[in-house]
Amino acid sequence: MYKNIYISENKVCSIRMIFLLTIQKKRLNSVEFFAHIFLLLPSILHDPVLLESVLDIFRKSDTKKHIVVDATLGLGWHASEMCKTLGKNDIFIWLDRDKENLEKAEKYIKSVQENINPILIHSSFGNLKQELTIRNIDHIDFILYDLWVSSVHYDEGERGFSLRSDGPLDMRFDRSTGRTASEMIHMMDVRELSKIFTLYGEEKKSWFIAQAIGKAREIKKIETTFELIEIIENSSFDKKSPLRVFQAIRIALNEEFKHIEDSLSQAMELLSVGWKIAVITFHSVEDRLIKNIFTKYLEDTIDEITGQIRIKSHYKKYTKKPIIPTDTEVEKNPRSRSAKMRVIERIS
Ligand SMILES: C[S@@+](CC[C@H](N)C(=O)[O-])C[C@H]1O[C@@H](n2cnc3c(N)ncnc32)[C@H](O)[C@@H]1O
Repeated sequence: MYKNIYISENKVCSIRMIFLLTIQKKRLNSVEFFAHIFLLLPSILHDPVLLESVLDIFRKSDTKKHIVVDATLGLGWHASEMCKTLGKNDIFIWLDRDKENLEKAEKYIKSVQENINPILIHSSFGNLKQELTIRNIDHIDFILYDLWVSSVHYDEGERGFSLRSDGPLDMRFDRSTGRTASEMIHMMDVRELSKIFTLYGEEKKSWFIAQAIGKAREIKKIETTFELIEIIENSSFDKKSPLRVFQAIRIALNEEFKHIEDSLSQAMELLSVGWKIAVITFHSVEDRLIKNIFTKYLEDTIDEITGQIRIKSHYKKYTKKPIIPTDTEVEKNPRSRSAKMRVIERIS
């Protein structure tokens, strides 16, 4: 049953390093030993979603210098595998809006890969062109967006994204700037709240939930994730509503759709002919957004009077349908089950 399971080289490498560290434990003090194990363990427990497909798409067939961007570095699982397919002249750019993830990923990748010299950028991918321009980079050959939150966001209550562990209602990807989710839900009026729950969370009981939030905040400031979950559950009577409402608040708070739209239009402009943009999404709301953006670039410009093609599209779809994980991948990594990857290629 497991014969098709892909075990990444990094995983093998991490297991080997943990084994070696364990043998050498006497030479390390306990703090050093556990720090190394802590760094390597996640790579064994987690799998980058659609990794094989990502590697297939961006595998290059020539030895020219290429500029490759991981726009959502996360914990560096995709990036650490992508590193292996790059040559020494290639430039690898790592971006993340979350400084803590960027630092964790850098430490992890450098612990399993030697001679890696990426350009690290702590910024939103919405600033892609500006960040590249100040580094004298005027084109890209491949860019990967793996949207949604990373597993640390889910797992660590203190970031405010998690439904499982209590924490301050924060939900910012970049904790150095902007208002928190708690501040946002106190500032928005009930109508606006209801609108974002429907738009970004596809929540059917939006109006009841928004009203309940409106009433609760008159009595006491809503400061923690568990407080908000209780209000949502008591007003919607649906155990799935917190997930949808949290998603909506996160998208609105971090202005995710605006950053995606801005970034993709910049990436389309910077993309070299023959190269690709890949976007992985985990939810129909996000996938629809990507589909609509790509469609705009895939259409020819038609002359309104003659009905003839005036400008041919510079892009084409890489695959007719979005790429989804195989049954084996879903079995091994259930988190991947709702993943979809859309890829667009520049042809002229
Ligand atoms: C699903 S994770 C990426 C996982 C990554 N591919 C890996 O292999 O570990 C998404 C990451 O995107 C980051 N992110 C979200 N919005 C962003 C934005 N506008 N610009 C840059 N990074 C962003 C999050 O902080 C998070 O670390």
